Amino acid sequence: MIAGAGGIGLACATAFAYVGARIAIFDANPEKLRAASGSLTSECYLREVDLAVPEQVKTAVDAVEDEFGGLDVVLHAVGINIRKPSLQLEPDEWLKVLKVNLDSAFWLAQAAGRHMVPRRSGRIILVSSVSSQLAHPDHAPYAATKAGLNQMMRVMAREWANDGVTLNAIAPGYIETELTIGYLEKEENRQRLTSLVPMGRLGVPQELTGPVLFLASPHSSFITGQVLYIDGGRTLV
Ligand SMILES: NC(=O)c1ccc[n+]([C@@H]2O[C@H](COP(=O)([O-])OP(=O)(O)OC[C@H]3O[C@@H](n4cnc5c(N)ncnc54)[C@H](O)[C@@H]3O)[C@@H](O)[C@H]2O)c1
Repeated sequence: MIAGAGGIGLACATAFAYVGARIAIFDANPEKLRAASGSLTSECYLREVDLAVPEQVKTAVDAVEDEFGGLDVVLHAVGINIRKPSLQLEPDEWLKVLKVNLDSAFWLAQAAGRHMVPRRSGRIILVSSVSSQLAHPDHAPYAATKAGLNQMMRVMAREWANDGVTLNAIAPGYIETELTIGYLEKEENRQRLTSLVPMGRLGVPQELTGPVLFLASPHSSFITGQVLYIDGGRTLV
């Protein structure tokens, strides 16, 4: 089950479909869901869900659990960013980023965990960010959600470690998707960000799919509570 039909969510859905997984995708934007169904070759379960609303998340996760007869893997790939200096942020903007990025991850992991823990099996993967570690200006709420997500994931991973359920996060550097495209359209932004990456380039969504498949697979059975940075070396500098 994949929450988020954006650039990263859809790339991961395509990779899961390629290895033969049955897929459900949640997103608040019906156009994103339509585009996902058009680009995936295998049939998948699509549902419009506002992940920031706990009741909607629970109902949707329970429905997929019933439909599929069990959830094996859950990927949280939902997020927004409001780039503003801290002095200018309004209360509703702060809260919106927290709800969409962090609250949604908690409600999704909790709803999935309520099925996975009793069954003693499951993989939960969250998409964090290099912003969980780096202090990018104008990123206060976004960075707070990603650092919070890492620590929330570690607590849940510890709670469920003896129940056959693992939780891990991937933390990408700048990847070109709708989330970043507006910012990257300015050539000076693109050049500055690229110059900070030791590999000398930004990433593409497909570079995240291998690590996600690995964390969803039996090859990662003894890994839980970890954050895997996928950033071309960005967090080395
Ligand atoms: N693109 C990057 O550079 C980058 C880097 C690090 C981390 N991330 C993280 O990766 C994840 C996916 O981002 P992306 O780059 O694919 O962005 P994206 O904008 O392409 O996709 C985000 C998706 O989330 C959906 N969404 C937003 N609010 C929602 C809500 N309340 N309920 C349900 N769906 C909602 C949007 O409709 C969209 O389809 C996010 O958590 C983001 O923070 C992205």
